[in-house]
Amino acid sequence: MTEPLESRPIVAITRSDLYGDPAGRLAAVATVRSRPSHLPPTVDELAALADGAVAILGLAGDPVGEPLLARLPDLRLVALASAGYDSVDVAAAARHGVMIANAPGVLSEAVADTTFGLILAARRRIAEADRYVRAGRWHESSLTLMVGLDVHGTTLGLVGYGAIGRAVARRAAGFGMTVLFSDPVSPEEGQARSVSLDELLQLSDIVSVHLPLTPATRGLIGEAQLRSMKPTATLVNTSRGGVIDEAALIRALGEGWIGSAGLDVQQREPNPDPDHPLLAFPNCVVLPHIGSASTSARVAMTVRAIENIEAVLAGRPPVTPVPELARGKGSA
Ligand code: DGY
Repeated sequence: MTEPLESRPIVAITRSDLYGDPAGRLAAVATVRSRPSHLPPTVDELAALADGAVAILGLAGDPVGEPLLARLPDLRLVALASAGYDSVDVAAAARHGVMIANAPGVLSEAVADTTFGLILAARRRIAEADRYVRAGRWHESSLTLMVGLDVHGTTLGLVGYGAIGRAVARRAAGFGMTVLFSDPVSPEEGQARSVSLDELLQLSDIVSVHLPLTPATRGLIGEAQLRSMKPTATLVNTSRGGVIDEAALIRALGEGWIGSAGLDVQQREPNPDPDHPLLAFPNCVVLPHIGSASTSARVAMTVRAIENIEAVLAGRPPVTPVPELARGKGSA
């Protein structure tokens, strides 16, 4: 017998552009309310959408904190179709008895691919060279045109050695790179060697950041760290903009403390400012947070969020609760 609609749990979906048909799939177990926008919701929008809901299927950037949670007494779970959950106040959620689940692991290979794309683009000036051809300037070419720095045979320093850092390390093996990493919790794996952050910054030709944004990691790469890097070094960030002090990075690029940068993330996102200082540097490649943007990763991220909701609706714990709720489980 079919359950009457009004007795079914309500699930709120915060974005209209999620892959994997979450509304269709969740309709089998819940009454689904979908928000008809792909933009991050405000607290008021989210509170109205999720009024009476037991679960929210959301995304990194959704403002899940005390002001929202206090207005949703029926809520039991926020399942994010993203690995990052820095917009969620996990402590406030715990106080309100709300579980938080993210979607780690399923995007690691896609983000590692993007990381390598940024390394190659920044070191070998690929984006800059593309702009040069499009500007009709190829006829000016000489042997000095777009000469960059090697990627193969260099030393790669991974700040953070979770699933994404390790996926980048596996790719680095094919480029004959020496891999160092700095991570207080992850063990050595493969050829990668654990070093202090200071040592990593001094020794690496390429420094790639793979840490979640937390109070402890905010601004971790600041002026002192940038000044300690090689003047030819490339800094790559596919994690969260806040891990790097952006003002210090702008000075580092402007004054030549480092050689180049490849950024998938910025402190403010989305950043529609065409005059943003980072965009003035030809040696800085900037992407609009597309690290996980392969079709298979995007589908897998939503499917993981759906699985977390299905589990909780069936009375089980979420499959991938955030590490604060499941000690020992990683998030990136
Ligand atoms: C994530 O899942 O956290 C990625 O940064 C994509 O938003």
